[in-house]
Amino acid sequence: MTFKQQLIDWRRELHQNPELSGQEVATTTRIRHWLESAGLRLLPYSLATGVVAEVGHGDKVIALRADIDALPIHETSGVAFSSRNDGVMHACGHDVHSSVILGAALLLKEREAQLAGRVRLLFQPAEENFTGAKALIKAGALENVSAIFGMHNEPGLPVGTFATRGGAFYANVDRFVLRVKGKGAHAARPHEGHDPIVLASQLVIALQTIASRDIDTLDSVVVSVTRIQGGNTWNVLPENVELEGTVRTHRADIQKQVEKRIREIATGLASAFGAQIEVEWFNGPVTLINDEQWAAFAMQLAQSVGYQTQTSQLHMGGEDFAVYLQTIPGAFVSIGSASPYGLHHSAFNPDEALIEDAARYFATLAEQALLKN
Ligand code: NI
Repeated sequence: MTFKQQLIDWRRELHQNPELSGQEVATTTRIRHWLESAGLRLLPYSLATGVVAEVGHGDKVIALRADIDALPIHETSGVAFSSRNDGVMHACGHDVHSSVILGAALLLKEREAQLAGRVRLLFQPAEENFTGAKALIKAGALENVSAIFGMHNEPGLPVGTFATRGGAFYANVDRFVLRVKGKGAHAARPHEGHDPIVLASQLVIALQTIASRDIDTLDSVVVSVTRIQGGNTWNVLPENVELEGTVRTHRADIQKQVEKRIREIATGLASAFGAQIEVEWFNGPVTLINDEQWAAFAMQLAQSVGYQTQTSQLHMGGEDFAVYLQTIPGAFVSIGSASPYGLHHSAFNPDEALIEDAARYFATLAEQALLKN
């Protein structure tokens, strides 16, 4: 079997057997088996799911990371190798990322004698719920690693296209819950209560002024209210309304400023309407910040091996790879997968033609990164 076909077969096997974040047991078994069969050393970390392997010898270590989890989506792509696990789908292409890094592992094994150090291969669980990177770091996966690289397929780019950027790339992801506590009343006698529905409505509009009136227009910020719940019938003003939403930014100071403004607006409106608004804040993944030099290095190599390269736009989504980059430098890159349907869509169908080239790229990237200071 050709190298290319091997990687496609592995990708299809992973695709047919997707598992949710933190439940990647069979996926872990498969990847361990494939790596061991190719002669790679598995590192004895105690991980519930996920695999870490190594190739090469010496003090210097470069890491390559793939993510392995799938999403709670019923697949409608129609491909012959569709998910056999109904309601779960590799709709983000982590099966593709895994096969790419498996391919890189095989190529590095062939070149083991000439490697100027070790390459550590991280098959990370639980990217989608942003807990896997932390778990691998806790297990020791970044010990002695001088730089780390990873990829995401990009359905909007043609196969053969490569993009990245130095500095901030993916956004930080915060979640908020706002609990409006008013005073219920008969719907015909609103003056006897403090209507939390009218207040919640004002609140949604007021929150939109953060992006439009508080933050410099040249800085990226998204404030989205995504859920409103309150009331249960037509003739009663309820006591409470709950709102939930998300904030995306690329800078810690702006993230803080947005949170501060949300709290100020909530407090101010609550007092103006004789009600209370409780703010609960959840910090999600941090901004993914690529090292400028490693991003440039990754881009130059991509160009030299024949990719069409471009500088990425800022991405408003979150990516768990950001957590590694808080600890050590490295670069996260996008590789075109030309899917007619986007990430997290039930008909997502990345072009497998990207896999072999990306595997060769990452093997060379790691090999050359070992030669850098
Ligand atoms: Ni993804």
